[in-house]
Amino acid sequence: TILVLDFGSQYTHLITRRLRELNVYSEMLPCTQKIADLPWKPKGVILSGGPYSVYAPDAPHVDPAVFDLGVPILGICYGLQELAWHHGRNVLAGEKREYGHAGLQIQRHSGKQAHVDRLFEGLQDDMEVWMSHGDKLSHLPENFVTIATTSNSSFAGIASEEKEYYGIQFHPEVTHTPKGKEVIKNFAVNICKARQDWTMEAFVDKEIARIRALVGEKGQVIGAVSGGVDSTVAAKLMQEAIGDRFHAVLVDNGVLRKDEAKQVKETLTAGLGVNLAVIDASAQFLALLEGVSDPEKKRKIIGNTFIDCFQQKALEIAAKAADTPRAGKIEWFLQGTLYPDVIESISFKGPSATIKTHHNVGGLPEKMHLKLIEPLRELFKDEVRELGTSLGIPYDLVWRHPFPGPGIAIRIIGAVTPEKVRIVQEADQIFIEEIKAAGLYRQISQAFAALMEGKAVGVVGDQRLHGHIIALRAVQTTDFMTADAFEFDQKFLKRVKNRIGNEVEGVARVLYEITSKPPATIEFE
Ligand code: XMP
Repeated sequence: TILVLDFGSQYTHLITRRLRELNVYSEMLPCTQKIADLPWKPKGVILSGGPYSVYAPDAPHVDPAVFDLGVPILGICYGLQELAWHHGRNVLAGEKREYGHAGLQIQRHSGKQAHVDRLFEGLQDDMEVWMSHGDKLSHLPENFVTIATTSNSSFAGIASEEKEYYGIQFHPEVTHTPKGKEVIKNFAVNICKARQDWTMEAFVDKEIARIRALVGEKGQVIGAVSGGVDSTVAAKLMQEAIGDRFHAVLVDNGVLRKDEAKQVKETLTAGLGVNLAVIDASAQFLALLEGVSDPEKKRKIIGNTFIDCFQQKALEIAAKAADTPRAGKIEWFLQGTLYPDVIESISFKGPSATIKTHHNVGGLPEKMHLKLIEPLRELFKDEVRELGTSLGIPYDLVWRHPFPGPGIAIRIIGAVTPEKVRIVQEADQIFIEEIKAAGLYRQISQAFAALMEGKAVGVVGDQRLHGHIIALRAVQTTDFMTADAFEFDQKFLKRVKNRIGNEVEGVARVLYEITSKPPATIEFE
C-alpha cells in the first residue's frame, strides 16, 4: 500500500487515480493522520500538494513519525516544502506564484549518488511539467541534492543522499505533465516496490467494508436512483454492503424515457436485488407543469416536486424502519457523487461539505438531518463503468447516455402536455433503437428526440396532416462543455424518419439538428 497524505490540493485524488491505473493499492488520508494509529505499514508515502504556505502559523504538518517508518517518501509541491521543512525549516522562500507549463531539466548523478536518479529513470533529460505553487526552495536541505531544475527554480526536484526521500515542485499526477505517470510509477513500483495487483474487485471489497464500518450493524441508508449509471452503481454497492437496510427510491415524474420506471424497477429489484420503492408521481408533476413554457420554471417545478415526493417517501420509510426489530434509524443519505463533482478535496481539517449544491437534492440531507455517504467520490466516470461491470450491472445500463433530471420536459419546447410527452418518448425510443442497431451508441455521447413548438403540414395517405415537428439530436463530446453534432449518413436518418413517421402518431416532420456547442447547448432548453 502507498499512503497518500492529503494536504488539500485539488489534485490529490489524481495521485490515487494514477496509482489505481498502475494497479497499485493506495489509501488517501488527511495529512494530520497519526502514524501510530495506522493498523498497517505503508510501502511508501506520498505527501500531496496543498494550498498553504509552510510558513503560515496554521499550516498543516505531517506527524514526524512518518520519517521513522523507514520507507521511501515523495513530496509533491507543498509536499516538497514539507519535506524540506522537516529537514531544516530555514530553507524556504515564499513570494512569487508559478502556475502553468514549465520545461524540466533532469540532473543525472554518478557514483555513490547515482541512486537519487531512480525517480526519473528511463525518462529523457528534459520534459514538460505542470507547476502550481507559491513557495519554493531557496537552498537545499542538508544531505539533499538537486535532481531537476526549471528556468524558474534551481530546486524543481530534490533527493536525499541518505534516504529514499524525493521532492518535486511540479505535479506529476495531472495530464499536463505527460510523463508524470512514469515518475509516479518509478516511485511506487521501482522505489517502493509496491505490488501491482490492485483491481476493481479489490476496490469493491474495500468500499463495502468501509460502508459497513461507517453505517454500523443497524444503521439504515436512503438514496434516490434515476436509472443512470452512477446512482445504479452506488445503489448496488450499498445493497452488497448492507442489503435491505439500504432503501432506494425512484420518483417517476412522468417525463422519464418510455418505460423507464418499469425498466429501472426490473433491473434494480429483480436483476440486482436492490430494495427499491417506485413512487408514481407522474400525474402530480404533469398537473404542475401544465401551461408552463419557461424552461427555468419547468426545472424549478420538477426539482421542488421531486424533493417533496422524496421527502414524503423517506419519512414513510423511516417510520417503518424505526418500527422493525432491527430498529435502525435512517441516518444516512446515499449520493452518487463522482470525483469531478467534488469541488475541492478533503480538507486537512477533515471531510468537509464539498459538493455542488445541485447534487445535494435540494439540501435534503440537511433538512432531514441525514449524513452523506458517497461511495463513488474518488472515482471518475470510466472507473464507475468498470466498477458497474464488475458488480454485474448490465452492459446497456453501464454505457447509458446521460439523461437530465428535468427529463423530457426540457426537450419539449413550450408547454408540456401528456400527448407531447408520449410523442417524444416514442420517437426517442425509435431513434435510440436504431442507433444501437447500427452499432453507433458508444460512439455517440448523448442522443435524443425533442419536440419543436408549433405544427407543420404533411400528407399521410390521402389525408392532409397538421402534425408535430420532431428534432433529433446526437452529439459527441468528452466533457459535455463543448460538443459536435454526430454525422450520420443519410440512409440512417431516412430510416429513422420513416419509422417515426409510420409508428408515432401525430408527427408530420422529422428534423436533424446540427448545431455544435457552443453556440448551442446540448439540450434545446
Ligand atoms: P447543456 O444543454 O447545458 O447540457 O449543453 C449539458 C449536459 O447537462 C445535461 N443537462 C441537465 N442535467 N439537469 C440535469 O440533471 C438539468 O437541468 C440539465 N440541463 C442539461 C444535458 O443532458 C447534457 O448531458
